[in-house]
Amino acid sequence: MSLTNQLVTLVNRPTGALKLDDFKLEQAPVPEIRDGEVLLRTICFSIDPYMRFRMNEGDLEGESFKLGSVIEGASICSVEQSKNPDLKVGDLVLADTGWQTYAVFKGDVLSQGFPFAGLPGLKKISKDVKSSYYLGALGMPGFTGFYALMAVGEPKPGETVVISAATGAVGSMAGQLAKLKGCRVVGIAGGETKCRYAVQELGFDACIDHKSKSFAKNLKAACPNGIDIYVENVGGSIFWTVLELFNENARIPIIGGIAWYNSAAVLIEPGFKLRQIFPKIKALLKMLFNVDRSPLLFMLSIGKRLKLQGLVITDHLEGYNDFLKEITPLIQSGKIKIKEDVVKGIDHAPKAFISLLEGKNFGKLVIEV
Ligand SMILES: NC(=O)c1ccc[n+]([C@@H]2O[C@H](COP(=O)([O-])OP(=O)(O)OC[C@H]3O[C@@H](n4cnc5c(N)ncnc54)[C@H](OP(=O)(O)O)[C@@H]3O)[C@@H](O)[C@H]2O)c1
Repeated sequence: MSLTNQLVTLVNRPTGALKLDDFKLEQAPVPEIRDGEVLLRTICFSIDPYMRFRMNEGDLEGESFKLGSVIEGASICSVEQSKNPDLKVGDLVLADTGWQTYAVFKGDVLSQGFPFAGLPGLKKISKDVKSSYYLGALGMPGFTGFYALMAVGEPKPGETVVISAATGAVGSMAGQLAKLKGCRVVGIAGGETKCRYAVQELGFDACIDHKSKSFAKNLKAACPNGIDIYVENVGGSIFWTVLELFNENARIPIIGGIAWYNSAAVLIEPGFKLRQIFPKIKALLKMLFNVDRSPLLFMLSIGKRLKLQGLVITDHLEGYNDFLKEITPLIQSGKIKIKEDVVKGIDHAPKAFISLLEGKNFGKLVIEV
């Protein structure tokens, strides 16, 4: 019986906020597999913030998505047919097949690293934990939170760790690990429900709502000893508020700036080069606040000996298997909790992505096919 693939393609390079008509849901026949190939059926796939800037022409990290092609990204698939000796029908794999319901794969089964953002290969996954966790806590975002906290933050017991987008896939991993390391953990999240969850379920010492008018005052009160580590996931005005509380020798892993992902697209021109964006951001800040805050950042960085370190997790894949060994038992024993925001149906993926960029997801966003 011939099968039909459903796939979501990108049809426009969006400027500013994403729109539903930037995407198209298409159908295509599933080809027969040949020697060395497997047919994969998608169980679920990931939607991640980085996908927004891969929609731009001239991406900062890696290649732009191609117009008219399926949107790439991590997925969990089951092997439906196999002509590859390394995989049998029923195996579960972490793949990079993106927003589609079937894919034919020919390539290597990885023992190290993971397939992500165009990196080739499949990784067999254990059936001992819920498979979708390999998209979040046990996948690229969880590994990012782990690496940012442990390798860049280097937490010590008693230190104060502040984390933005605290209930998300990256932030919840970093925050729970910081608690296990004996730190005082203060989350920053959007809205009372997320903040309550961070304290009551994730065990954070406090969580401050960045939408509240008294955000700056509340954050200061929650960090009476200042901030030793700030895990930066969002940027925007939150960064400037947190900055004032850094202690000497504070470490700041800079992971993401989701607050700018939609608006930065407006500033980025075709053929964009990294150096071109900074004058534009500066100009925008001046326009919005009539103030250039870069001297504050420079002088504080020097005076307080701050360590601000940007990171791209694909530079560190050699540590992924060790991460899995350390974190999987913590998830199985309930010491690390996971929240997923599961949306059913591939046709709902574009709307779910738009919501993510508006901060409406609550937990790791996963599309169940
Ligand atoms: N450098 C790397 O290698 C790497 C790897 C993975 C992820 N990242 C980055 O890490 C960050 C978190 O990713 P994630 O997968 O864990 O996402 P997530 O936290 O599960 O979801 C995104 C969250 O960001 C917050 N947000 C969205 N728009 C915002 C805005 N305009 N202003 C302030 N906050 C906003 C919202 O949380 P609240 O409602 O709580 O504010 C939203 O729920 C992203 O910036 C992502 O690009 C980077």
